[in-house]
Amino acid sequence: MGEFLTGLYPWTKVLHVISVIAWMSGLFYLPRLFVYHTEKAKAGAVLTDTFELMERRLLRAIMNPAMIATWTFGMLLVFTPGLVDWTSAWPWSKAFGVLGMTWFHHWLGLRRKELAAGTCNVTARRFRIMNELPTVFLVVIVTSVIVRF
Ligand code: HEM
Repeated sequence: MGEFLTGLYPWTKVLHVISVIAWMSGLFYLPRLFVYHTEKAKAGAVLTDTFELMERRLLRAIMNPAMIATWTFGMLLVFTPGLVDWTSAWPWSKAFGVLGMTWFHHWLGLRRKELAAGTCNVTARRFRIMNELPTVFLVVIVTSVIVRF
């Protein structure tokens, strides 16, 4: 199994990084859509229907599959021999960032359902602030995997 994963390593990493980019694009864009959606909530049904469609498609067609792919290829990298030294700090700080990113994804998913049901109490300003969170996790994760302290 170890030898098999070592042979696959460059391709596992290629697929991991591609999935990460797709996932991140959604994590940055969806809260932006929520800001506009919340600000224009009273503008009329046609506009809010359009926002709901864009949000649902972004989450289902891009973000959910990209998150699953990131986790799958990431775990294959974890099980590839010689890559992760659990006595170092970086795998733990990376895990913290990844769990934070995954929590944020689910937070957005719940807000999407509330927005579609008309029961969301989060303000546009709060969505703007939350929009900065994936950047913080991204800095933690990329610093962890590249600096490897
Ligand atoms: C979801 C769970 C994840 C797991 C289990 C995971 C695991 C890993 C592992 C073990 C490596 C090391 C590969 C090596 O040593 O060559 C790696 C590489 C990498 N990961 Fe993740 N990862 C995850 C999510 C993420 C996320 C969310 C990001 C970015 C936001 C990310 C960005 C990267 C990058 C850029 C590399 C390449 C670093 C290099 O040049 O070696 N990963 N990942």
